[in-house]
Amino acid sequence: MSRPLTVSDFKELARRRVPKMFFDYADSGSWTEGTYRANEEDFGKIKLRQRVLVDMTNRSLESTMIGQKVAMPVALSPTGLTGMQHADGEILAAQAAEAFGVPFTLSTMSICSIEDVAAATKKPFWFQLYVMRDRAFIENLIERAKAARCSALVLTLDLQILGQRHKDIRNGLSAPPKFTPVSLWHMAIRPGWCLGMLGTKRRTFGNIVGHAKNVSNLSSLSAWTAEQFDPQLSWKDVEWIKERWGGPLILKGILDAEDARQAVDTGADAIIVSNHGGRQLDGAPSSISALPDIVAAVGDRIEVHVDGGIRSGQDVLKALCLGAKGTYIGRPFLYGLGANGREGVASVLEIIRNELDITMALCGKRLIADAGPDMLHKQS
Ligand SMILES: Cc1cc2nc3c(=O)[nH]c(=O)nc-3n(C[C@H](O)[C@H](O)[C@H](O)COP(=O)(O)O)c2cc1C
Repeated sequence: MSRPLTVSDFKELARRRVPKMFFDYADSGSWTEGTYRANEEDFGKIKLRQRVLVDMTNRSLESTMIGQKVAMPVALSPTGLTGMQHADGEILAAQAAEAFGVPFTLSTMSICSIEDVAAATKKPFWFQLYVMRDRAFIENLIERAKAARCSALVLTLDLQILGQRHKDIRNGLSAPPKFTPVSLWHMAIRPGWCLGMLGTKRRTFGNIVGHAKNVSNLSSLSAWTAEQFDPQLSWKDVEWIKERWGGPLILKGILDAEDARQAVDTGADAIIVSNHGGRQLDGAPSSISALPDIVAAVGDRIEVHVDGGIRSGQDVLKALCLGAKGTYIGRPFLYGLGANGREGVASVLEIIRNELDITMALCGKRLIADAGPDMLHKQS
């Protein structure tokens, strides 16, 4: 491929560089993948309002998310197993985000640990928490995030039980990968990836192994994760987490106005309108279609962010016009990472910045902070 120019170019490059089981892990949704597809498709239905002969000099994409300065309102989503898209993936993505000036969110289910990422970066990053049944482990994880100077906790609410992704089952996904004739073949035909993996020690869940009780190897780890997601998680637990953490809190996985109102009552700093990238409740609406009702319900009382299906700067702008104060990208940065490590993530961010900047200008605005519904074309 000649120079990659779009997020989908990076997707194709990642497909060629990352072993099938890990590429599929990123490029999948639950069950029929209908919600996963809708997340992307519904952005296409929203049309922008073209304006002409407006002064377009001195443009700025700078903004804030939960009061923290961002070079553009696009954060990196927490994604599990990122260190399997590319060796030391979380460290590289965090470094790219830091250099660019946008937040990086480290997943509980990362390969590189909180401490690994903290040691390799200078500015604070955000930490995403899954609440496990083992509350002592969670308390310890929160303390570790504080010690690493994480500047926000992103609490994920939509994964009390795991949605089923057919591809992962068929591929026998695990970290580190299980060696079967098929998986060995899939890795053997990705020599660059293999070389990277041979050069790092980080090949399993860095936040868990050696920290959770009785988890020291792969088989105890899979038994532990299978039973640890807490199906009884409640709004009371959110209060408990908020108290323990004591810093900026973002609630991730809200798709319903009623839940958004409850989220406001917790005193959290922001919510992320999200269906987990179409990986949990298949049949749920796309995030972008759920956004306007939620903004109408709580937008004056809490910062509303959104993720799911954003593949371009135009998509970012549409989300901002519909009332989001911040957006997140998951797969786009994973594709950049899989294709070309830290530079790949930096290129994806650069592509989105350029698209966002030009699109904003062609809609007749100079400051991203001014994005609003007046920039959308009213469909009859
Ligand atoms: C491969 C992958 C792993 C993910 N792992 C997590 C995770 O560990 N924690 C979490 O809160 N969300 C996780 N998500 C969901 C993302 O944070 C985010 O909601 C979603 O990717 C946004 O959609 P997009 O990929 O279309 O941008 C994951 C998503 C993907 C694609």
